[in-house]
Amino acid sequence: EEQRLKIIRDSIRVVPHFPKPGIMFQDITTLLLDHKAFKLTVDIFVDRYRNQNISAVAGVEARGFMFGPSIALAIGAKFIPLRKPRKLPGEVISEAYVLEYGTDCLEMHVGAVHPGERVLVIDDIVATGGTLSAAIRLLERVGAEVVECACVIGIPELKGIGKLNGKPLYVLVEPRQ
Ligand code: PRP
Ligand code: MG
Repeated sequence: EEQRLKIIRDSIRVVPHFPKPGIMFQDITTLLLDHKAFKLTVDIFVDRYRNQNISAVAGVEARGFMFGPSIALAIGAKFIPLRKPRKLPGEVISEAYVLEYGTDCLEMHVGAVHPGERVLVIDDIVATGGTLSAAIRLLERVGAEVVECACVIGIPELKGIGKLNGKPLYVLVEPRQ
């Protein structure tokens, strides 16, 4: 297990000072290019969630889309895209969240999930937790049960878990330096 997580962590590229000075960007595109690391990542999530009666995996645009559908297919669940504003054509509900400068918003199609459905939320990385907290609010507003939020990378110093409205958070690795 330790070894599997090391392979995953080592496949993530760090890009210093992107998108701005001081940020050590955690680039998961190199994980996606490494079949072994990509498969290990998906398999760890699939093993964890396969027997939990999860009927939907909700992925956060954009990088949650890179992991969520593979997990959904493997556990026999549907995939719900949680999208940035004005991308979804149907009737939506929206939840705003705070960024370092300003706010952003996630939207979900009305009817994508039914009350009582057990949902897993997937994203690539949790930093402040603002994004995941908006995802949780969207799902809970329509009566879905968020079983857990899962990310490849978690930044412990940013205390994202404190924002998740009591929902459990599962992360595979810490950021690379
Ligand atoms: C990044 C990342 C997470 C979020 C984490 O997404 O993919 O979704 O930030 O930050 P938080 O925990 O502080 O909310 P971003 O909105 O930059 O864009 P992208 O996924 O569309 O690339
Ligand atoms: Mg994102």
